[in-house]
Amino acid sequence: MRLELKVNGRDVVREVKPQELLLDFLRESLGLTGAKRSCDVQVCGACTVLVDGLAVSSCCFLAAHANGREVTTIEGLAERKEFAQLEEAFTRHAALQCGFCTPGMLLTVSSLLESGELGSEEQIKESLDGNLCRCTGYRGIVDAVADLAGIA
Ligand code: FES
Ligand code: FES
Repeated sequence: MRLELKVNGRDVVREVKPQELLLDFLRESLGLTGAKRSCDVQVCGACTVLVDGLAVSSCCFLAAHANGREVTTIEGLAERKEFAQLEEAFTRHAALQCGFCTPGMLLTVSSLLESGELGSEEQIKESLDGNLCRCTGYRGIVDAVADLAGIA
């Protein structure tokens, strides 16, 4: 089937199989490897991308469902001016180590900041429960996000 969408602000038109996953489409057809495959069952958040500004697990999201929509990956987020603030806060609070979870984490955080949903530390923890990190113990991540949300 024919797929027409915007990816990181650019028009993309491709043929895809009806069962093709958005994660595979992004990584294999477009070479956007920032979204990672890990659990493959919508638990870890490593594959997170934004579809029309909302965080989705691209390992469980059909590429066909992105037809006519706007997809943002970490490569696209990195081109935006607000990325510098995210990068600075995560670096200052040592909110990453191996970095495997970081693209998905940053995309979820950027979506939450955009929607203004982060009013307390508890909300931050609850909002990030779909993004797992095996390295940091989360303290640095929560502190970085609290800083970005202006509640630190
Ligand atoms: S790889 Fe998609 S949620 Fe884990
Ligand atoms: S920094 Fe390694 S999994 Fe999060």
